[in-house]
Amino acid sequence: MAKKAKKELLDALNLDRAYELGAILQYMGHHYEAAGKESPAIIEQFKKSAVDEMKHAESLAERIVYLGGVPVQKAVPVKRGGSLLDMVKDDLKAENDAIARYRKHIKLCEKDDTTTRMLLEKILAVEEDHADNWETVLGRKID
Ligand SMILES: [Fe+2]
Ligand SMILES: [Fe+2]
Repeated sequence: MAKKAKKELLDALNLDRAYELGAILQYMGHHYEAAGKESPAIIEQFKKSAVDEMKHAESLAERIVYLGGVPVQKAVPVKRGGSLLDMVKDDLKAENDAIARYRKHIKLCEKDDTTTRMLLEKILAVEEDHADNWETVLGRKID
């Protein structure tokens, strides 16, 4: 891979990682903040999703190191609190943004980095599940 293309890919993977770190914090925050609210099932899903995002952040870091980069340790800003409905809406928005970002980044490595492409595709499938889950909870699609 050309040097410029590799730098572009590393920047993309680090951006994805910063968002994954944010997703961990947002879901964990929602897990604590929603404690005692009306839906234990949803609260449990916040926790489960946080663990999925941890796996994504870690696998991205491993790939970044393998490619010769340095994984970022700083999360993007996250949404906090509100009603349970607000939280689910914020999480669905974050998942939809992640889906769009992964689709874009998969294109960067489509040609000459099959391993990274497969990693991003695997993560994308989980984000699609997350989004689907929140859409089901909300009972409708939101932009
Ligand atoms: Fe993720
Ligand atoms: Fe997700």
